[in-house]
Amino acid sequence: MAIQVGIVGLGMMGKCHFDTYQKLKGVKVVAVCDVDERKRRGDIGPFGTIDLSRVKVYSNVEDLLNDPHVDVVDITLPTPAHAPTTIKAFEAGKHVICEKPMARNSTEAKAMLESAKKYKKHLYIAHCIRFWPSYVKAKEIIQSGKFGKVLTAKFNRVSGLPSWSWKNWLQSASQSGRCALDLHIHDADFVRFLFGKPKAVQSLGVSLAPGGIDHIITNYIYLEKYWVVAEGAWEYSPTYPFSMTFTIALEQGTLEMTKDLALTFYPNRGRPKQIKVLKGDGYEGELRHFIECIQKNRESDIIPPEEAYKTILLIESEIESVKQQKPVTVKG
Ligand SMILES: NC(=O)c1ccc[n+]([C@@H]2O[C@H](COP(=O)([O-])OP(=O)(O)OC[C@H]3O[C@@H](n4cnc5c(N)ncnc54)[C@H](O)[C@@H]3O)[C@@H](O)[C@H]2O)c1
Repeated sequence: MAIQVGIVGLGMMGKCHFDTYQKLKGVKVVAVCDVDERKRRGDIGPFGTIDLSRVKVYSNVEDLLNDPHVDVVDITLPTPAHAPTTIKAFEAGKHVICEKPMARNSTEAKAMLESAKKYKKHLYIAHCIRFWPSYVKAKEIIQSGKFGKVLTAKFNRVSGLPSWSWKNWLQSASQSGRCALDLHIHDADFVRFLFGKPKAVQSLGVSLAPGGIDHIITNYIYLEKYWVVAEGAWEYSPTYPFSMTFTIALEQGTLEMTKDLALTFYPNRGRPKQIKVLKGDGYEGELRHFIECIQKNRESDIIPPEEAYKTILLIESEIESVKQQKPVTVKG
């Protein structure tokens, strides 16, 4: 029997998840919910259309949560709604897949963890970069040790200011946390996934709207081990294309992912080599993995919810470092 999913929030990510489920086996979207009448007709504005003729369409989250046909609630709502909706979904007896960032802050994220325990339900946070083929391959190569130890690593993620969101919530610092919490978190989480918890962070940031950081550069301090830096920016012009890249120097060569997501290894001697990576994207990888976990009634070993909580703590430490203009010990 297919796992039956209800998606709450049909914006950019709701559509992305809806489309991705259509490619997967053993799962079926049976219900969706959005407050916007146009989206309930399947018109997702700049992101195209979806066919909702074979799913139950709700305008109220509680009605979807009480639908007995829904096994799993997939939350693609604005970030401030992640914690309250997750907790209500657990109360209604559902498992939850929830977009990153896990919550608006670590207090809310902790309440989600406690609620999952209380109701004995699974919580999967959609940190797609942990599943993105070039990042997955880079981690595999680094951890194999065959090119020696990591010397330095640099991650970059930039875009224009997001303009598509519901009531422009993404541009509101109090709702989205702006670039630091919403965009740069992808790299912060991957840094933790790859290298573990840094001792401290030293961040520089600039704020173009009160209360949020729109361009951040963080030095993740691993003492004598490696030098790791990540930069996130979203203040570029609306026509500036989104890109994510990384360059990792190893003892025996340099690994680079360019804007086209191609992964190349530049050995200390010899010719550069294009590295083959799996097809698909991180959304497909994460949702396939979460559905397999639900089928086996287990937690994710790639992104346990406690990990997503610690990534929120890491971002809070980075924001604190920008404020204090000095290195800050990482919490958690
Ligand atoms: N993994 C990624 O790469 C990635 C990319 C973008 C956004 N996100 C995350 O996904 C989440 C959603 O972002 P988005 O860009 O899709 O936002 P969005 O504004 O495009 O979509 C949110 C949707 O929720 C609906 N909505 C709002 N309140 C509602 C309610 N009470 N009940 C029902 N529907 C409601 C809105 O009408 C809208 O359709 C955010 O947490 C964001 O950080 C993740």
